[in-house]
Amino acid sequence: MEKPKRRQRYRGKNPRHFSEKYKEHEAERYAADVARVLARGRTPAGMHRPIMVREVMEVLAPQPGEFVVDCTLGYGGHAAALLAAIQPGGRLIGVDIDPIELPKTESRLRKLGFGPDVFTVQRSNFAGLARLLPEPADVVFADLGVSSMQMDNPERGFTYKYDGPLDLRMNPERGRPAAVLLARLDAAALAALLVENADEPNADRIARAILQAPVSTTTELAAVVRSAGGDDDAVRRVFQALRIAVNDEFGALDEFLRNLPLCLKAGGRAAVLTFHSGEDRRVKKAFQSGEREGVYSEVAHEIVRPSTEELRANPRSRSAKLRWARAALH
Ligand SMILES: C[S@@+](CC[C@H](N)C(=O)[O-])C[C@H]1O[C@@H](n2cnc3c(N)ncnc32)[C@H](O)[C@@H]1O
Repeated sequence: MEKPKRRQRYRGKNPRHFSEKYKEHEAERYAADVARVLARGRTPAGMHRPIMVREVMEVLAPQPGEFVVDCTLGYGGHAAALLAAIQPGGRLIGVDIDPIELPKTESRLRKLGFGPDVFTVQRSNFAGLARLLPEPADVVFADLGVSSMQMDNPERGFTYKYDGPLDLRMNPERGRPAAVLLARLDAAALAALLVENADEPNADRIARAILQAPVSTTTELAAVVRSAGGDDDAVRRVFQALRIAVNDEFGALDEFLRNLPLCLKAGGRAAVLTFHSGEDRRVKKAFQSGEREGVYSEVAHEIVRPSTEELRANPRSRSAKLRWARAALH
């Protein structure tokens, strides 16, 4: 017989470390505790709160019977709302590149009652979406960047708040961790990367400091950036720039946007949530040139932003921008 799992011990009354927050990791079992964390405007450990769900549903207007692709399944918050809206008869493919979180999300959505006839998952990069789909979709949605599960888990190296290996890969089974990338760059190349991926104003100074000290953990990197005069925002920008490089995020987004028209049925709708200017610029340009060329019949001319209530309830929504496009009818 399998031994019951022992709960991890933690120091003090309130667990502080990601892995010690056992109640938050078991949201179904400890619903009241998780509700208290949410009420404080915090994101419970191991969870991701979907952003601008109402606005996304409004612009995508999913209908019963439709075929939907969620290119960034994450925790499955948007997918659950989309799946509910396309019943009866609709189906959704959830794509994600993260081999650690994808199976957890699949089983979570199965428990909500979405069987394999209506919901399937595909572990893949959305850059190759056109090759992956059996047919064009009525609705394509992408919510860019990283999930809170990835961000908050120190072992994955996305957070500078706790010590962890400087990794930053959404798919740790492929590519190279950020520490290896850093070891291969010279100061000029690193400074260019900080400017290109995060508009870092003090890129030269910070790049020189980073390459002078051997850095292999998240807190070491944060300390070096601070020693070069950088504040918390500079640390955030450096992590963002490295994350974009390690995961080739702009390359994947450009290819996705290029192929998006092939993935949509005539009259199909697409929406993309972005979190910084490098992403938003790309989506805006692709949608506008698609409209000029007649590939899209209509695109968002104004970005949609989170409501004041959402900004208050979930500070992680603060930089979100939503854009949408509708495929032409021919
Ligand atoms: C912001 S989260 C999505 C959250 C999700 N909408 C929800 O409601 O939980 C972004 C997700 O996209 C995935 N992702 C990022 N880039 C990707 C890519 N190029 N291909 C596939 N998945 C990607 C990440 O692994 C992460 O799980």
